[in-house]
Amino acid sequence: MKEIINLITEKFEEAFKQCDYEERFAKVTVSNRPDLCEYQCNGAMAAAKQYKKAPIMIATDIVEKLKDDTMFESVNAVNPGFINIILSKDFVASYVDEMSKDDNFGYEKKGDKTIVIDYGGPNVAKPLHVGHLRSAVIGESLKRILRYAGNKVTGDVHLGDWGLQMGLIITELKERNPELVYFDDSYTGEYPEEAPFTISELEEIYPCASGKSKEDPEYKDRAHQATLKLQKGYKPYVELWKHILNVSVEDLKKNYDRLDVSFDLWKGESDADEYVPELLDVLKKKNLLHESQGAMVVDVAEETDTKEIPPCIIQKSDGAALYATSDLATLIQRRRDFNPDEVIYIADKRQEMHFTQVFRVAKKADVVADKTELVFNGFGTMNGKDGKPFKTRDGGVMRLEHLISDIVNAVYNKIMENRSMEEHEAKNIAQIVGLSALKYGDLSNQAAKDYVFDLDRFVSFEGNTGPYILYTIVRIKSIIAKYMSESADKSALSEDIIPAGSDSEKELMLKLAGYQSVINNAVEELAPHKICAYIYDVSNVFNKFYHDTRILSESVEQKKKSYIALINLTMKILEQCIGLLGFGAPERM
Ligand code: ARG
Repeated sequence: MKEIINLITEKFEEAFKQCDYEERFAKVTVSNRPDLCEYQCNGAMAAAKQYKKAPIMIATDIVEKLKDDTMFESVNAVNPGFINIILSKDFVASYVDEMSKDDNFGYEKKGDKTIVIDYGGPNVAKPLHVGHLRSAVIGESLKRILRYAGNKVTGDVHLGDWGLQMGLIITELKERNPELVYFDDSYTGEYPEEAPFTISELEEIYPCASGKSKEDPEYKDRAHQATLKLQKGYKPYVELWKHILNVSVEDLKKNYDRLDVSFDLWKGESDADEYVPELLDVLKKKNLLHESQGAMVVDVAEETDTKEIPPCIIQKSDGAALYATSDLATLIQRRRDFNPDEVIYIADKRQEMHFTQVFRVAKKADVVADKTELVFNGFGTMNGKDGKPFKTRDGGVMRLEHLISDIVNAVYNKIMENRSMEEHEAKNIAQIVGLSALKYGDLSNQAAKDYVFDLDRFVSFEGNTGPYILYTIVRIKSIIAKYMSESADKSALSEDIIPAGSDSEKELMLKLAGYQSVINNAVEELAPHKICAYIYDVSNVFNKFYHDTRILSESVEQKKKSYIALINLTMKILEQCIGLLGFGAPERM
């Protein structure tokens, strides 16, 4: 279906043309004065300059053409030249009715791109912490949104599995278990299949090693050497590294599962390694690489820069792989595997400089195809109520696992507070609702902004929260279930939606009619928060309608069926939207 706003715009374009004004002035927007009208056109103001006429005269000309059109209940010209639009109830109802009869609510997929999304970005052997939460939550939602729009999307977790942390772990393991075969130079046998550590041991080893390396330069140097040895392919370390990777990935998958976040690809920085020679080749051939203070760098500053963009370091004197190098090499791999139209990176906005450098080198050296757009979608910090980066009560880094349990427990207590429910069921529901609280709490903010993690607010069943949206969905489900159990005629869900009988019913229809515009907008701007704002609005107008309307006791059968079809559409749209955000709704709560 066409977007409702485009249908209105077309009418206005026609009217502008008929009055001999250019149709480009016929821009229609959603009203910013909902107390006065539903849509508005301010084009007469802009046209006034060109035609040297008072805007109100132009507005009046347009209104004259449109006032009898059945699309409108009223079209009014008001000083100094605004046109206020109120749609006819018939038109709105028939639009929404058509939506309700389409599997996709009239939404037309426009996406035809091949896209790689790089999100999650956890570092192997370091516990997943809240810093990685945002990347996972935002990336998962964008993946779903872009896919829903029809694009071919591949999500890649891009593990940090090739840096110094690997050398640190190897060094610490050697300290603790020097007898392991991996540390015996003369060993020639097969390497064990079993990892010499568990995930909990691994998670204790890394911070310990990292702490030591900060205090002891000699230890740090050993870790550095171990990293280099690994990167050069020293077999015993590669074998050990594989164990670290496997144990870690298994644990990561468990955590991401709990978040309902998934990846099509589990590649990491290490996979880029084989493309580094090719990268260096290209950079050399294009004469982009030069030496600077012992390192090989590419200049990326541009004349129009307003702040300094330092050269991108590609290789240090010891040959160790660098963050930028591995991102560039990964682009070679992605080009070969997907030839993407777009690569989108979801990472902390403090990494913006890194990505600016990487993107510039990639474009300069034709590491990516001309058509390939490189997009950095940087997100802000999740802060505590004190406005500082979120920490545990004792000031440590909060593990994601614990954060999730905290939120689920808070929801569980809420559920048990005022209801009697089996513990088992309450626990299940708390998982679902808890996830909505966490994800909605994050996604409802514009990604680039910092936000405050406020557990009490996030789990509230009222206000702009995930649980409130779910509560609305569950409320609709229960009305429909009740209708179904009372009524002999089960066809209401697909019955016609007839013109609204009240203001709140029309308001609900208008909101639903805007679905397609909202999705298109979220796709264009990579903005899940637009979907959050939309479903919050839909929930509010639904609840107002519910408050004003006796749905099940309506005596006029046709009206009652129309109500049911309307709230069923409301529910389906809400469910579709939360699916795009990355969570679902329970049957009851
Ligand atoms: N592992 C990185 C970190 O923890 C994030 C990776 C982001 N993606 C990328 N292609 N650089 O900071």
